[in-house]
Parts: sequence; C-alpha cells; structure tokens
Amino acid sequence: MIKAIKLVVVVLGVLILNGAECRKARILESFEYSAISCRSHSASIVDFGGVGDGKTLNTKAFQEAVNHLSQYASDGGAQLFVPAGKWLTGSFNLTSHFTLYLHKDAVLLASQDINSWPVVDPLPSYGHGRDAPGGRYISLIFGTNLTDVVVTGENGTIDGQGDLWWQQFHKKKLKYTRPYLIEIMHSDTVQISSLTLVNSPSCNVHPVYSSNVIIQGLTILAPVTSPNTDGINPDSCTNTRIEDNYIVSGDDCVAVKSGWDEYGIKYNMPTKQLIIRRLTCISPDSAAIALGSEMSGGIQDVRAQDITAINTESGVRIKTAVGRGGYVKDIYAKGMNLHTMKWVFWITGNYGSHADNHYDPKALPEIKGINYRDVVAENVSMAARLEGIAGDPFTGICMSNVTIGMAKKAKKYPWSCTDIEGISGGVVPQPCELLPEQGEKSVGMCDFPAESLPVEAMELKTCSYGLNYF
Ligand SMILES: *[C@@H]1O[C@H](CO)[C@@H](O)[C@H](O)[C@H]1NC(C)=O
Ligand SMILES: *[C@@H]1O[C@H](CO)[C@@H](O)[C@H](O)[C@H]1NC(C)=O
Ligand SMILES: *[C@@H]1O[C@H](CO)[C@@H](O)[C@H](O)[C@H]1NC(C)=O
Ligand SMILES: *[C@@H]1O[C@H](CO)[C@@H](O)[C@H](O)[C@H]1NC(C)=O
Ligand SMILES: *[C@@H]1O[C@H](CO)[C@@H](O)[C@H](O)[C@H]1NC(C)=O
Repeated sequence: MIKAIKLVVVVLGVLILNGAECRKARILESFEYSAISCRSHSASIVDFGGVGDGKTLNTKAFQEAVNHLSQYASDGGAQLFVPAGKWLTGSFNLTSHFTLYLHKDAVLLASQDINSWPVVDPLPSYGHGRDAPGGRYISLIFGTNLTDVVVTGENGTIDGQGDLWWQQFHKKKLKYTRPYLIEIMHSDTVQISSLTLVNSPSCNVHPVYSSNVIIQGLTILAPVTSPNTDGINPDSCTNTRIEDNYIVSGDDCVAVKSGWDEYGIKYNMPTKQLIIRRLTCISPDSAAIALGSEMSGGIQDVRAQDITAINTESGVRIKTAVGRGGYVKDIYAKGMNLHTMKWVFWITGNYGSHADNHYDPKALPEIKGINYRDVVAENVSMAARLEGIAGDPFTGICMSNVTIGMAKKAKKYPWSCTDIEGISGGVVPQPCELLPEQGEKSVGMCDFPAESLPVEAMELKTCSYGLNYF
C-alpha cells in the first residue's frame, strides 16, 4: 500500500510589529508517497490560477500546468500538486515523466457541461463507440503516447458526477460514447494509485495499448444500478499489476479486454501477463473479474489471486461469441472467497453484442486452459453455468479444491455444462459429467504459475514533496 504521510504543516504568520507592514503567511507543506519515479520539479495547480471553490472551471489551469511542466520531462520530471478543495474541471491531458498528486481532501469534480467535452475517434480495435457508433467523449484525465506517468494521492477523490450522463444514456440522448475517468493509451510505465473514484459517467480506469502498468489502492464507488460503470479495464495491455483495490460498481469490477470482432482481430493486440490480486468487489449484476466480451485480440496469462466478492453475480467470468475470433487461454484463479453469488463459475459462448453486422461468422474464439483452485463460496444460487460454442468446445477447464455452499433457494441442478471439456478434483457439490472427478490426490491439481511476471519486479520508491507559498 502506498503510504502518504503528511509530515509537517507549519503556518507562520509573521507580523511586523510597527504595523506598517504585514507580510503574508508562509505555508510549508510536505509529505511522502510511493511511486515508480520521483520528480525533480514541483508546482501546485494554484500557481496556474486554479481555484478550488467547486464553481470555477479549472480546465485551462490544469492544461497549462501540464503543458508548462512538460518542459521538465528530460530534466528529472515534474509533479503537479492539487491541494484540498473542490476543483471543477473538464478533460485535460497528461505528459511524460509526470505525476499528478491529489491531496486527501482534494476533489476533482468533472464538468457536467456535455458540450465542453472534446470528442475523439473510436478506438481502432473497437471500430465503434460503446454507447453510439461514432466518436467518444475524451476521458476526464487522458494520456496518450507517454512514458512514465503517475496519477496518485492520499486517497484524494475524482468525482465524475455521472448522474447526468446516466440519465442521458437511459434516455438514449447521447450523440457519442460517455467519457471514462482515466484513460491512458499507447503508454509505457504507468501508475494509477491511492485514489477514490466516484460516480464515473461510464468505465473508471482504462489502460489501453500500454505496458508496465500498476493500478493499486483504488477505492472505486458507483451506484450498483449505474450503467457500465466498470471498475478497471486493462485492454490490449502487456505486463499489468492490479492490486489492493476495493470496487463497488454497476458493472464488472475488473473487465479484461482486447478489441471487438473484426476490428479487434485486425488490430491484433492481446492483453497478457496480467496480475489481479487482493481485489474486493461488490457488483450484484456483474462479475468480480470478466474476461471479454471484447477479446478479439486475445487474452493470455491472467493470474487472479485473493479475490473477495460479496453480493456479486459471478466470480471469474468469460464472455465471448461467434465472430469474436481471438482467444482466452492460460487463465489462473486461486484463492477466491465468495458470498452471495448467482454463479460461482460462468462461461458464456453466445454473448452476442456485435460491433456491427460485418463480423465474420467463421471467426470462432479459442477458449482453453482455464484453471480455478481454492475457492470457497456460500449462499450460491447455482454453482456453474458453462456454455461453450457448438463445434468449438472450450477445453482444458480445471477446477480443484472448491467448496460451494448453496443458498436455501438454490436451483435444483447446481451445474449446467455444454460444449466444454475439463477435469475436477475435490469440488463440492459434485460437478457435471463434462468435468470428471480425478480422485483423491487431485485436490491441488489445477495450475497456478510459480515463476513471477516482470511487472512484479517493478518497485515503488519513496518520493517526497515540499511546497512553499510566499
Ligand atoms: C488531448 O489529446 C487528445 C488526443 O490526442 C487531443 O485530441 C486533444 O486536443 C488534446 N487536448 C489538449 C487540450 O491538448
Ligand atoms: C502514438 O502511438 C501509436 C502506436 O505506436 C502510433 O500509431 C501513433 O501515431 C502515436 N501518436 C502520436 C500522436 O504520436
Ligand atoms: C487510503 O484508503 C485505504 C483503504 O481505505 C486505506 O487502507 C489507506 O490507509 C488510505 N491511505 C491514506 C493515505 O489515507
Ligand atoms: C483448499 O483451499 C483452501 C482455501 O480456500 C486452502 O486453505 C487450502 O490450503 C486448500 N487446500 C489445498 C490442498 O490446496
Ligand atoms: C443469500 O442470498 C440471497 C439472494 O440470493 C439474499 O437475499 C440473502 O440475503 C443472502 N443471505 C445471506 C445470509 O447473505
């Protein structure tokens, strides 16, 4: 966990006694935090005319601050401090070798003036926006083609004020796809940590086409009825570590993606080498971790560990469809604690939801090597619903050491399996025939890789920050 310690706040009011002169207070504020890189240069949003009164629009101040600080990229980098206050802002872009740091009582308030949100092209691996076919409103905090960028704080808040967007979405009044809170594209060495994200208009955190990404210590909150408020969506990313996050949302807590139908197949950029650990999720209508449904660039080597879900629809879910192509393979989930679930295991081969009508019906997804072990669940309506695709069975499914306590009003048959192949060991209640029990010694049989991934070697340094106002 990131430690952000406020060391000193000294306020010295220096009053010159002859009364003729009254010098301004001098405030020295400093603290420490953990980050992939520390910075040589510092500034506060206040230095760029920012006003934290909850009313003044600060978009220009933020963009000017980042533009100004970008000059230090090759000189040790820069950090921008956002003090306590309510900072109303539209979207702004980040730069390389840069840290955005939010004080614990800082709130970035996203502007609710839809007309002030710039529109950008759909992602090439999707071909379309999610809410509407054309462009997308750019995310509140956006970065592209960056190296070494950090967004962090002492659990400071980013408030998407999503209510207005959700209403527009429900009324089908949106011309473009809703914005996310944080999107980082085509970037390398990224940290998003120690923040509280509330009421995003749509998905919260979206690293896409990026590598060496750490997402840590986020508290993400949205009403469980809010539309598409996914927590964290690693999308066509390599080497990503998502850990110690607490998410309550209206969609999947973590949704792993890699492009949609013919657009994703063509772009061909997988998500691989992904760690998700120590996740706590509440999402009554969605999954703790979803793989797909957009997975056309492929998803490989995902390691989920120490997952707690409460009142969540399913655990680690796979969603795909004819026309997606791509693959989901070498998936490992170990140590899941689940309370009040509709399905512990849910794999869906007929998810549908196509980008358009031009998808290739011969583009079948390959789903293989899906390993679940050490799962305890209680108050479950149905143990599993595993549905492959006719003529394209999902293979190498392994479940071991699984104990599922069924709810009082559980379905009569806890397992439903079609077009899948696999094995089980030490699974209660007894699985479907397509997952034959392997006997006494099989309780620890499903794989979980022992060797670590490169992203686990990415270390955080202790950085400090000091500020003087005169
Ligand atoms: C932010 O980046 C996007 C995408 O590159 C661009 O369209 C937009 O103009 C940038 N905004 C500013 C204020 O530079
Ligand atoms: C950003 O990187 C992508 C992928 O390498 C490249 O296609 C694109 O042209 C770059 N954009 C800019 C503005 O440099
Ligand atoms: C941030 O929130 C987390 C989770 O509630 C907590 O464990 C951590 O101590 C907080 N950090 C700070 C600096 O307040
Ligand atoms: C089975 O899972 C539980 C936790 O769910 C764990 O404590 C135990 O060590 C596991 N047993 C084996 C044989 O792996
Ligand atoms: C069990 O799950 C049902 C919903 O299926 C829920 O209404 C009930 O409160 C849960 N019971 C407990 C003890 O969590």
